[in-house]
Amino acid sequence: MKALILVGGFGTRLRPLTLSVPKPLVDFGNKPMILHQIEALKDVGVTEVVLAINYQPEVMINFLKDFETKLDIKITCSQETEPLGTAGPLALARDSLVDGSGEPFFVLNSDVISEYPFAELIEFHRAHGGEATIMVTKVDEPSKYGVVMMEEETGKVERFVEKPKVFVGNKINAGIYLLNPSVVDRIELRPTSIEKEVFPRIAADGGLYAMVLPGFWMDIGQPRDYIAGLRLYLDSLRKKEKKSSSSSELLASGAHIVGNVLVHETAKIGEGCLIGPDVAVGPGCVVESGVRLSMCTVMRGARIKKHACVSSSIVGWHSTVGQWARVENMTILGEDVHVCDEIYSNGGVVLPHKEIKSSILKPEIVM
Ligand code: GDD
Ligand code: MG
Repeated sequence: MKALILVGGFGTRLRPLTLSVPKPLVDFGNKPMILHQIEALKDVGVTEVVLAINYQPEVMINFLKDFETKLDIKITCSQETEPLGTAGPLALARDSLVDGSGEPFFVLNSDVISEYPFAELIEFHRAHGGEATIMVTKVDEPSKYGVVMMEEETGKVERFVEKPKVFVGNKINAGIYLLNPSVVDRIELRPTSIEKEVFPRIAADGGLYAMVLPGFWMDIGQPRDYIAGLRLYLDSLRKKEKKSSSSSELLASGAHIVGNVLVHETAKIGEGCLIGPDVAVGPGCVVESGVRLSMCTVMRGARIKKHACVSSSIVGWHSTVGQWARVENMTILGEDVHVCDEIYSNGGVVLPHKEIKSSILKPEIVM
């Protein structure tokens, strides 16, 4: 089977992290978002992944070359010369996706995280025999998503409304699809939206089905959701650990750990720290003594100096947080940012390569 991942877009809502790498390469739970997806696709027998990309393809391809061999999966790029939206890329990659086998293919938004229940999706799609299946999930605030109205028993979609202005329901498009090759015939090679132009039409023809996604889901394309998503992801890792009797425990344990915490094997944690809940400490990080971390991500190569406190924040690659500094309330430090000793950051969004010498008292962007 094949899969296409929609990788385009500039990831503006996840700046300053996306000023350093394309959104799919931003680390989540200590590995680039897109690897979570590629690994799960591989697990259900996908042999080729097409990345639909309109921005920095070299960066993606160079990075993923290693994983092609490691995971034994073919990864190719389909590059747009102008952004083709969420449907146009399928027409552009037509020759890769439609190979005459008649098999359905996966399409994924690159910024959604879940347990990727692809095996269940395949089974559901085969059972209903329709043209397309989308996974849906329930959220409290449906207006920023695509909303689906469906027949409860069969899953048949009656209506699909992208970003509705008035409330139509709380089951939303999770950005995970399994489509028959015939869907590509519905799409012209031009900028076009699968949500606004393609799904409503398939639904009107009676061929669109929705399956409620089991387990957690989050679009992690913005900082608040990224941090909330990490909590859900770690929670799901914990549940998996409890179910499997294997001893290869991923989550950290010990007197200095609270709740669910991932610490990369190459990270160093000093004496007297208190870490957790819902923290990821990436490869090569150094967390010095007496540090307090909660609800945060510390990315590869970062250093948190003695007695600093980081909560509800993201510390970008190779950044440092000074001694006795306090970084909180959705502070996002880009790559290679240096927060000086004793500084306070309340929601600062700091662009790469900056040095922060005075406190940031209210949420603001520091250029
Ligand atoms: N190749 C390519 N070209 N990809 C694109 C382009 C483009 O021009 N525009 C957007 N994408 C990719 C994004 O990188 C992302 O992976 C995906 O398409 C969806 O775009 P977003 O910008 O993240 O859309 P959204 O989050 O507002 O809404 C979408 O996702 C929701 C779930 O998170 C829609 O699919 C909604 O219906 C859905 O509920
Ligand atoms: Mg999104």
